[in-house]
Amino acid sequence: MSQSPPRPPEQWLIGSYHHFQRDRLAFLQACRPLGDLVETHFFGQKLYLINHPEDIRRVLVEHADHFPKLNARDQGGLADLAGEAWQRRNRLIRPAFHYTRVQNYADTMITHTDHALQTWHDGQTIDLHAVIHEITMQIAASILLSADLSDMGAEIAQLIAKGQAFLSRGGGILAALSMIGDLGQFQTYKRLRERLIALVRARRITGEDRGDLLSMLILAHDEHGDQLTDQEAADEALGLFIAGHETTANALTWTLYLLAEHPTIQAALQAELERVIGDRLPTVNDVLPYTDAVIKESLRLYPPAWVIMRRIRGAISLQGYPLDSRGLIAISPYTLHRDPRFYPDPERFDPTRWIESDPPRYHFLPFGGGQRICIGREFALLELRLLLSLIAHRWAWSRAEQTPITPEPLVTLRPKQAIQLTLKIVKTGY
Ligand code: HEM
Repeated sequence: MSQSPPRPPEQWLIGSYHHFQRDRLAFLQACRPLGDLVETHFFGQKLYLINHPEDIRRVLVEHADHFPKLNARDQGGLADLAGEAWQRRNRLIRPAFHYTRVQNYADTMITHTDHALQTWHDGQTIDLHAVIHEITMQIAASILLSADLSDMGAEIAQLIAKGQAFLSRGGGILAALSMIGDLGQFQTYKRLRERLIALVRARRITGEDRGDLLSMLILAHDEHGDQLTDQEAADEALGLFIAGHETTANALTWTLYLLAEHPTIQAALQAELERVIGDRLPTVNDVLPYTDAVIKESLRLYPPAWVIMRRIRGAISLQGYPLDSRGLIAISPYTLHRDPRFYPDPERFDPTRWIESDPPRYHFLPFGGGQRICIGREFALLELRLLLSLIAHRWAWSRAEQTPITPEPLVTLRPKQAIQLTLKIVKTGY
């Protein structure tokens, strides 16, 4: 065996940087057939691309201690923390996102969506991403903070778009999924943070328990009686608020887009909803296998977290190659999910591939894996299921214009172009 893993064509000094920046997803996909472990560099910064589920499991689970999160710090939200600080915070907040707790948020998700849908009308054309982003933001603000942030809705959407563009301008892949802590330089973020700190202080003074996540953060203390400071509670709440609506908005946008492109699949989904839900609102107990399959298939083709980054600590090998501890690890769910070895005809949107069986554990990674697996997984899946059911049960939709839509891999995977949809009412009266 050669001394180092296979490499893509590289340019002197800059390595693969130019190829990567020209088209990030195409670059990652072109590297995949080169091997399960591919090595390249950007201006001397070594990068290992991990393409096989078994190696992904080694990195995220078996040898997780050798692969800490990139950009981890000792302050910020859960996603930013490492070591002891992460352990402590994780213990504090993970229970709030347990499947059984998350079920309690269903009513808020339904009420906000129902309210938004009441304003839609037959024949209307909507800017899909903007409309969905607004709904998921109001849901996250209400469930996580019991706050109405509608006065800042447009500003928050703009903050996230600006933050994504700014962070992706440089290394791009290196900044991926580290957005939250880095938004601090933007005025809107500062104002949002101040507003949250004021909210925390006010609640601390009155001792009021609103039963939401923010109250839990304020009131929680560990076995030593330690509590989060006002700033820590505000930063955590803000991190969860941003991570908790931006990714879900992208996932639902891609799902509705795919269904607009595949009217027969949209009709099959509507048939299931009509059969199971009939003339009422959806509930958490509805059994909707086709709806679930549509969501998984959309997360397969357009995983909002298109890359997961790690550092390397200590001496460790993969595929028999010793890794350079100054190197970085990139795992791309986007590339993995389109690997023909694991998904036959991978570019095809085909929800039925999920009906018979789920793929093995590390073949499907929209929420990552190991101890840093997405804390909001159950929250997101419930929200996607309820929102998609509510929308598709009452509305049909088609593309208003047939211009090509391409994914843009910034911090999250967003559609590069605005997607305009024309709505058609299919059910009224409840
Ligand atoms: C479709 C929606 C979502 C997707 C695709 C997604 C994806 C991910 C992924 C891949 C990770 C792991 C990153 C890594 O290992 O480096 C992650 C972590 C995280 N996610 Fe999500 N997420 C979603 C929704 C949510 C929601 C709704 C929340 C909160 C309400 C949330 C909060 C977090 C947090 C706090 C972490 C960091 C966990 C830790 O480091 O311990 N996410 N997410």
